[in-house]
Amino acid sequence: MALGLATAAPDDIDLADEIRIAIEERASMSPDALTGMEANLLFGGNETMGDPRLVDESMSTINYSEKIPNNVNLSEDRTLQRALEHWQPNYLNWWKDMGPDGSHDFDVYLRTAVSVDPAGWAHFDYVKMPDYRWGIFLNPAEAGRKIHFGEHKGEDAWQDVPGEHRANLRRIIVTQGDTEPASVEQQHHLGLTAPSMYDLRNLFQINVEEGCHLWTMVYQLHRYFGRDGREEAEALLERRSGDEENPRILEAFNEKTPDWLSFFMFPYFTDRDGKFQLCALAESGVSRVLQRTAQVMNELKTDDPARLRAAGVIDLPTIRRYLNFQFSVTIDLFRRGPVLQRHHLLQLCPQGPL
Ligand SMILES: [Fe+2]
Repeated sequence: MALGLATAAPDDIDLADEIRIAIEERASMSPDALTGMEANLLFGGNETMGDPRLVDESMSTINYSEKIPNNVNLSEDRTLQRALEHWQPNYLNWWKDMGPDGSHDFDVYLRTAVSVDPAGWAHFDYVKMPDYRWGIFLNPAEAGRKIHFGEHKGEDAWQDVPGEHRANLRRIIVTQGDTEPASVEQQHHLGLTAPSMYDLRNLFQINVEEGCHLWTMVYQLHRYFGRDGREEAEALLERRSGDEENPRILEAFNEKTPDWLSFFMFPYFTDRDGKFQLCALAESGVSRVLQRTAQVMNELKTDDPARLRAAGVIDLPTIRRYLNFQFSVTIDLFRRGPVLQRHHLLQLCPQGPL
């Protein structure tokens, strides 16, 4: 408060409740946390009949020789494979238009998955981003898996979408899926002004991973939602962040990310999901900016914005302005935006956040 960084401070009486509400809201209202699907855990392929020996070993390695790399035996379902192969060039065209500006010809050192076990995520190599092998990498199915919450608690995990939940689940997947390309679009120009190579590489890593998340959502739509799902998958590539005619679904994903302070703040306060993204940002981001500002304020013994800017750091009034903006966008996203989703999810999971 004294530094002017925080603009609200609940008093003693409310503090515990305010913190509880903030945490619960945060956990339940993130579009990613809502669905838990960034972890690729739902609908993880057909399960076996409960015999662990029958768990499909091939699920743990990824076939890179196919047009669409995958560990879901895509070649066994020709119709699904063809539908996704039809979507693939549209995705690549979208990437060429909306992927990181001016990046397409550079070799970028990126992480890709060679398998979905814990050791398989950290394969690094140089690749030109349009050649990145996006595909479908699901966690291996767990034999005999049960539903652990809500009114279906204790029942076998769904292998198909139950009719009564179909519309809600489709809406949730589409809303989640829409945020993936949206954030790539929001970050389209950032590579041109990266503060360091470290930040630049993190940005590109995050961008290709958003692409992976989109592929996962599109796979769910194609596989489980028939023609409706295919149309929704096409629409995911047609909407554009900030477009007046055809905007992204959630308002926070139509806001501009014009500079790196906005970018640092968005994943730090608003997104907070996707563990690889957060790892990528852990050593950069907001705390680094704040530390640097505080350090120079101490060195120069001043809080004068002009002097601090001249010294190459971001002054506190500017940081506060960004924080206030991010705060209102975040509240909007968690409270108002997904109110319908929240309602539907609470029906499925009446005890609270997923
Ligand atoms: Fe994502």
